[in-house]
Amino acid sequence: MVHIPTRGTLPARVGPQIQNMPTYGPSKMSRQPYTDPVQYELEREHVLAKHWILGGHASTVKNPGDWMTFEGHGETVVITRQPDGSLAAFQNVCQHRGPAFVSEMTGCKARRFTCPYHGWVYDTTGKLVGVPEREDFAEEHLRDVRAPKVAVGEWGGWVWINLAGDDAVPLEEGLGADIMADLGAYKMEDMILHDVVEWDVPVS
Ligand code: FES
Repeated sequence: MVHIPTRGTLPARVGPQIQNMPTYGPSKMSRQPYTDPVQYELEREHVLAKHWILGGHASTVKNPGDWMTFEGHGETVVITRQPDGSLAAFQNVCQHRGPAFVSEMTGCKARRFTCPYHGWVYDTTGKLVGVPEREDFAEEHLRDVRAPKVAVGEWGGWVWINLAGDDAVPLEEGLGADIMADLGAYKMEDMILHDVVEWDVPVS
């Protein structure tokens, strides 16, 4: 059975039963919004950096110590399942010189992440917990250092992230009742991730 999303009294948004569709075809649509670098940067700043976006399927981080990385629109984020079952997420940016320090897509049984460049060590929440040759650094420069926090939540079988971190609105408020009703009907929490297919497409 295929679920057909509806919103209130409005007609279904997909399928042949949609009424009053404009007559122009896809060939008349401008591609400019999808390829314009200025628009892309505006979208990154005003939408993607402030709103909840999909980070991955929850089944990928089912058990404590499981982790996955999200990559998209120039950002890379590490998402981890904590021992108490909660999730943590942080920007995949080493606080020493700035490279990504987790390079694989998924893993399990993590207790630490070590930057491959000079060995700085982070716990599974992104907090800096180890620095080789620590005496070379002023203590105040290392105090409370962590990879920037990313807000993370779980709903509908998916892990959602928000780059605004502590400033993010609560997940359910951000998604809104309409989206949750539409997506909730698919019961994606009952689905299983079967495969991952990646495309590199130069659009925003
Ligand atoms: S860049 Fe990560 S430890 Fe130096």
